[in-house]
Amino acid sequence: MAHFGNYEEHCRDFSWSISERELEYQEGRPFNIGWHCSDRICLQGKGNRTALIWEGLGDKRKEYTYTDLRIRSNVVGHHLRSLGIRAEDRVCLFMDKIPELYIGFLGVLKIGAIAQPLFSAFGDESLFVRLDNAQTSAIITQRKHVPKIRKIIDRLPSLKHIIIVDHDGRKELKERETAFDMDSAPAVESLDIHPTHAESPSVLHYTSGTTGQPKGVKHVHYSLISQYLTTKWVLDLHDDDIYWCTADPGWVTGTSYGIIGPFSMGVTQCVMDIGFSADAWYQFIERHRITVWYSAPTAIRSLMKAGDAVVKKYDLSSLRHLASVGEPLNAEAVIWGQKVFGLPFHDTFWQTETGSMMITNYPTMPIKPGSMGKPFPGITAAVLNINTFEPMSEPGQIGLIGFKPGWPSMMRTYWNNEATYRAKFKNGWYLSGDRARTDADGYWWFVGRDDDVINTGGHLVSPFEVESALLEHPAVAESAVVSKPDEVNMEVVKAFVTLKSGYQPSKDLELEIMNFIRKKLSPLAMPQETEFVDGLPKTRSGKIMRRILHAQEWGEEIGDTSTLENDD
Ligand code: WT7
Repeated sequence: MAHFGNYEEHCRDFSWSISERELEYQEGRPFNIGWHCSDRICLQGKGNRTALIWEGLGDKRKEYTYTDLRIRSNVVGHHLRSLGIRAEDRVCLFMDKIPELYIGFLGVLKIGAIAQPLFSAFGDESLFVRLDNAQTSAIITQRKHVPKIRKIIDRLPSLKHIIIVDHDGRKELKERETAFDMDSAPAVESLDIHPTHAESPSVLHYTSGTTGQPKGVKHVHYSLISQYLTTKWVLDLHDDDIYWCTADPGWVTGTSYGIIGPFSMGVTQCVMDIGFSADAWYQFIERHRITVWYSAPTAIRSLMKAGDAVVKKYDLSSLRHLASVGEPLNAEAVIWGQKVFGLPFHDTFWQTETGSMMITNYPTMPIKPGSMGKPFPGITAAVLNINTFEPMSEPGQIGLIGFKPGWPSMMRTYWNNEATYRAKFKNGWYLSGDRARTDADGYWWFVGRDDDVINTGGHLVSPFEVESALLEHPAVAESAVVSKPDEVNMEVVKAFVTLKSGYQPSKDLELEIMNFIRKKLSPLAMPQETEFVDGLPKTRSGKIMRRILHAQEWGEEIGDTSTLENDD
């Protein structure tokens, strides 16, 4: 039976103390996510239960029980302490989806340090900006990512330790680099868990905005109160479930629901560190008898594209519950899930800043395909008037998605950027930066973002970051970056570029620019198309009007440009 019952009743009776009680939280007492996700499960007598099943390329496979999770995260914590890492120091996790990432995350939290996961496909510039902003002390990484770090290390005086988890001794270690093997290091049976409290910082996730550099979203240990209960009620995890979250812990889904949620509930989760292919994914579900699957619209659209015949090759009867996050989930995808798996995908809406699901579909509530569902009990959400920031009570009106501050996993600030954090609140509401409408039954429908941020395959890309990087290319004089439609990723990056004198547009130059951005930033930020133009549309004060280029790409009305031209 589902953990979640009747939506209205849950809303009526709701208090976060439900979650606090189940997690034995006591105000003023130490509270630590790392301990909750490993030691506590062992204390409940579940130490022998499999916590993590990992598969990598070349048929590599590893398994860890909850006892292993406890001991190995102790090992990581102990090792970091021996290097001089202290509470609240930032420790970056810069790895592919390998066990060290999942277990290292818990180890960092256990010593009270702040975990800063970064997507391992980031190039040196993306990495630099985030490590510099956070003044990170240590980075845990793999051999293959070390060259990117070596490129920027001279500009990062705070970064004292580069900890390489798979050093094989073949290459020489340079200054500040050390080797550390999590699996073969001597077991640490007991570790003094740092007495973090509810408001102690836990995780720092970087997210992209329209202007300025990426922002470090600061979360605290108390976030577990939200993450645990949403995992239980929305993902509906039970003791015997085998769970698969396809997200990378470089992004918030991969930590909130790829580490913290499932481990705090003591279930078995599977991780696949192999690129996407429909066959590989279905095989994975079949082989591990996965029951609950949390994925993303881009992946689902790619599976749809691969066709229904592939689905039929595999026994996917273990699946019981499906969910999705990251971008709008089309009604067709929900209906397709129902057709081929016999189960619909449950859309969930939230953000790095919210730390946990905010508007979502529940296992026990009828789905309206294309709708994000309803606010989680205890969450006060409103569609706000775009100008006055007053709630609009009439269904059907489009406005800003706002949330009343105060849920446990809400960000506490943007790292070193309190002003930008404050600007996210208007009239007593936290502004998500998205637009939506509700219907007469109280279901929420996503309309679009309220800014220029590009959501490509569920990953946010800042046009500003790409434009800045483009300007570093010797041929580029000016640039404007917008999204363009894409069948699978919904949106991809498109760059408009004017060239410096002496440079001519060509296919080769376009490829060179693409490669430049891929290496510097990431494959996600790489423009899928670069259009060479003679000039860019600008406001009178010289600000580039991305909105005009955006409208052109999407075949939309350009709208009132007279106001735009005065819009500084
Ligand atoms: C932005 C947040 C939270 C997980 C990953 C993304 C968009 C997220 C949905 C959804 C439509 C969605 C919004 C949001 N988004 N979920 N179900 N339907 N849009 O975290 O990188 O902080 O991105 O992703 O625009 O603001 P993020």
